[in-house]
Formats: sequence, structure tokens, C-alpha cells
Amino acid sequence: MLRFAQALDTQLRAAMERAFPEAAAEASAAGRPLDPQLAPASKPEFGDFQANGALALAKPLQQAPRQIAAALLAELEADTAFGALCLPPQIAGPGFLNLTLRPEVLAAEVQRRLGDPRLGVPLAVAGGAGAAPVIVDFSSPNIAKEMHVGHLRSTIIGDAMARVLEFRGQPVLRLNHVGDWGTQFGMLITHLKQVAPAALDTADAVDLGDLVAFYRQAKQRFDADEDFQTTARQEVVRLQAGDPVSLKAWGLLCDQSRREFQQLYERLDIRLNERGESFYNPYLEAVVADLDAAGLLVVDAGAKCVFLEGMQGKDGKPLPLIVQKSDGGFNYATTDLAAIRYRFAAPPAGDGARWLIYVTDAGQANHFAGVFQVARRAGWIPGGARLEHVPFGLVQGDDGKKLKTRSGDTVRLKDLLDEAVERCEADLRRRLAEEERQEDEEFVRQVATIVGLAAVKYADLSTNRITNYQFSFDRMLALQGNTAPYLLYAVVRIAGIARKGGDLGGGDLAGAQAAVAEPQAGSPEALQFSEPQEWALVRELLKLDTVIAEVEQELLPNRLCSYLFELSQVFNRFYDQVPVLKAEPAARRSRLALCRLTADTLKLGLGLLGIATLERM
Ligand code: ARG
Repeated sequence: MLRFAQALDTQLRAAMERAFPEAAAEASAAGRPLDPQLAPASKPEFGDFQANGALALAKPLQQAPRQIAAALLAELEADTAFGALCLPPQIAGPGFLNLTLRPEVLAAEVQRRLGDPRLGVPLAVAGGAGAAPVIVDFSSPNIAKEMHVGHLRSTIIGDAMARVLEFRGQPVLRLNHVGDWGTQFGMLITHLKQVAPAALDTADAVDLGDLVAFYRQAKQRFDADEDFQTTARQEVVRLQAGDPVSLKAWGLLCDQSRREFQQLYERLDIRLNERGESFYNPYLEAVVADLDAAGLLVVDAGAKCVFLEGMQGKDGKPLPLIVQKSDGGFNYATTDLAAIRYRFAAPPAGDGARWLIYVTDAGQANHFAGVFQVARRAGWIPGGARLEHVPFGLVQGDDGKKLKTRSGDTVRLKDLLDEAVERCEADLRRRLAEEERQEDEEFVRQVATIVGLAAVKYADLSTNRITNYQFSFDRMLALQGNTAPYLLYAVVRIAGIARKGGDLGGGDLAGAQAAVAEPQAGSPEALQFSEPQEWALVRELLKLDTVIAEVEQELLPNRLCSYLFELSQVFNRFYDQVPVLKAEPAARRSRLALCRLTADTLKLGLGLLGIATLERM
């Protein structure tokens, strides 16, 4: 619908200028050109769009809004390009113009999309080869700690955002800002030196599970024992200063975690470039020097910091952002400052990015607000650049509390994915037995894996990321409702139509590229629709481009989920109520085309969410 909205907007603006030349000239001169206020129709019975601009003009023009709308309508009716696009508009309510696209225009657009592997979704203006990259900083677990469900959210949401941006033709740099440089190494190395020194100079002397346990012990000691704390802090400083023994131990620990993380990424089909906190170590001194040169640095109780504007602590005093501790150590914030500086700097000294997106839990909102502010004041953010924290809520258990295992431990990601797949497999076996269907083991395994992982991803993506999210296997695996199984099932249903002899034409997206020239509207080959269920499906299908542009702008993957869910429902209604395979040849062809475009749209949309689809399940 984007194309139509743009064309209508232009036509409406021109109509306003013709109808009210003086007001239009005045408004343009004031830098606020008259706005037709074009929006999607608030109800289907109002058509496709409505233009509300007449209401805002009533005052300046000293005329009744309906009278203004009538003047606009007269101008529109004289415009042949408008007439080719829309049926005669209606004036409604206090002065809205209701606009309905011509049926043949909608049918031709369906036809056009059938031959377009992008399904009508345009490339972003700012994208293309050679454009400055968008950096998506996501997943970013911490070394020597196991990935937890919070990292799962970041991984899934970040990957979906990256996929949408990539599909829009934006050059995306996917960065894994792993925590590979902080205090945890000081604690861990100090502790290991005493209890398991082999882990520090021999690869895989202990496994990751043990390492996590050692880390937990180290943390307990760190919190309880002041001497240990001091030694651990010194250890971090040694590591950050490049001491070879510390560096070797660090490298071994990182490798071990990295391999573990990689397994999860492969399983979830996530591509990421690791560029951890350690990468920015050589730039930390320069960050402090830059801040000093900009006159922002203050030494407070031995620590170097920048006082934040507009951010106060409980005592009402401005909050400091500490960039170098009194022992000389740098922290998480310093690294993030160095990262921003590097990411915006022109290549080869940096990434030359124009847009940074950070996907972390909402608990880090203040951290990012502080860091962004300091970066701005330091002058590291180029004009026109975008810098965004994309926060998400907590993962909660069924009880509404933070997700924990029965024994009260944090849930390991691997276990969680295993359980989703296992439950899926059990459901599937039950269903196969009920339906007395025979399938081989390979099929069962493949379906359970795809549906299980899809369910976990989709459950996360389909809730508004900002709210906390209740993790429930039962809900995410249900065949009904806004779930992955429901959507996957719609795709399967359409594949079934093809198997039952419905020639969907064109086949998959790749095949669609070879589509033949579009038949002229009105010709016997043109698609023809008559039933309201068909038109509802046509209109729903054509929303894809608008939805994707919105998801890209607002970084809310749940919008795409809601759309795909709505589309599946509209499709199911259509397929349940309108004959397809048994229809007359012309209607059958048009309806099969709708089936195919629905399947292609669902596959494309789910693909952007990182979810694979199936032909049978
Ligand atoms: N490692 C951090 C954590 O586990 C997330 C890092 C996010 N990215 C960043 N540039 N700070 O909470």
C-alpha cells in the first residue's frame, strides 16, 4: 500500500493547492505546507484511506470542514490520475474524505507482487552498496558466565531487526559486544590460580559448566572478602595492561565460552561478528583524553568522571558517569564510549556507521542514556546519525516471577531450547497417533526441531518487547492463537492445496522471478475477485510493505507478528468460506493466486523473524 499512499498524498497535496492557492502559498512560506493528513481508513467500510486535512483548515479558511472537503473532492474528481487509482471519494462525518482504491488497481497490484521476489517491499532510500552501515549490537553475552534468557531475547530480537534492515537493503554490521574484559576475569583468574591453576594455561582443562561454577564461587568470595577483592582488581588491571600470563589465561577462557555460544547461534541460525569489549581496550586512554580535552572530565574522589546533565541521583545531585576508577581500571561505560567513538569514526579508523542500535534489557536504559549523552557532548556523534537503545522487558515464568528452574537457578538456554523441541516432538507423536498417520523418524525430528525453535522465537518476538514477557511452553506451542505453530500451519495448509492439485503457479519465491508479463486489467487473464473474503485477503496481503517499513522505523518486530497472525486468520476465513479447488476455472485461478501470495508473504515475514517454514507438519 506504500506506493498508493505516496501517490495519493501527492495528488491530495496538489488538490489542496489548486483549491486553496492563497492558504497553500502562505503555509508553504511558513515552512508548514498544507497536509492532507492521509491515513489508513479507521474501518474497512470507510475504504482504504481517509484524508482528514479538511478539519485543520476550517479555522484558517473560516469555512465549514465539509465545505472544504467538497472543494477538495471537486479538484480530485478533475484529476484523471486520481480517477485511475480511486473510486469517487465520499465525504463522511465532520469532513473526512474516504478513499477507496479501484478493484482493478488492487487486483493488478496482487498480480505485480506475484512476479516480484520482494513482494512489493521497496528498498530503503538510505540503503544500497557503499552506504554507511547500520550497526546492530545484540546478543552480547558475558564470557565465563552462561547465556541466560535475557541474552536469548537480545539474540532473537536483534537478529530479527537485523534481518528486516538487511531486507530493506541497508548495510548491516551485526556486532556481538561480548563481555570479555571486565572485573569477572579478575575474580575468575584470581580464584582459578588458587583452586584450578591448570585451567589458566591448558585448553579445556575444565569444562564450561565447571567454569561457571568457579565463577560463581569467585563472585561469592569477591563479595565477602576484601583481600580477594583487591587482588581481583589488581588482576584486571594486569590483564588490561597486557600482562602475558593473564592474557593467555584470558584467551583460554574466552575460547571455551565462544565455542559454547557458537553452538547456540548455529542452532538458532544467528549470524554475528564477535567484537567484544576487549577490542576497544587500545582506545580507552584516548576516550579519557578526548573527554578531558572537551572540558568534560572531573576528578571526584580519585575517579575520573563526567557529570551527567539532567540525571540526578536520589540525593538530588547530578549523577557522575565514571570513566576511570581510582585504581586506574576502566569499566563497562568507558568501553561503550570507546565503542561509540569507534563506530561513528570514518574508516579505516572506525566503522563510519550512521545508525547504532543496542538491543539489551530495559535495566540498562540509564547506562545507555548516560553513555549517549557523554558521547554527544564529546562531539563523537556526526550530524544526522541515529543512536538508539532498543530495550526489552524481563522474561518471567508462569508465576510472573523472573524465570528460574525448579531449584531456583537461572535457566540455561540450551535446556530451554531442548525442552521446546522435546515437547513439540511429544505433541507431534500424539497427533500422528490420533490421526493414524505414519511418518518416519526423520520427519518427526525435523518438524519438532523447526516448530520448537520457531515457537520460542515467535513467542518472544510477538509480545511488545518493552513489556515483560511470560515464558510458557504451553502457550507458545498451542496450535491456536498468535503462535508459531498456528502460522506455520497456515503455510502447510497452502502447501496442501498445491498437493491436492491446485497449481499455485510460479512456485517458490525464486521461481516467481521468472514470471511472465502482467496481464492488462480487464483482460481475461487478469485476476478477478468477487467475494468479500477475497477482497479482505487482497487488502491484507497488500499491507506487507507498509508493515515492514513501520517495523524498520519503530524497531518493533511484534508489529510484523501481529500482521502475519492477522493475515493467517483472514486467509483461513477465506479458505473455509470460499471454494478454491472446486471453483469455476477463472475464479479458481484467481483464488489460487491469492493462496500462493499468502504463502509467499508468510514465508517472507517469518523468514524476517528468523523462522523457517515447513511444507508438512
Ligand atoms: N554484555 C552485556 C550484558 O550481558 C550486554 C552488552 C550490550 N552491548 C553494549 N554495547 N553494552 O548485559
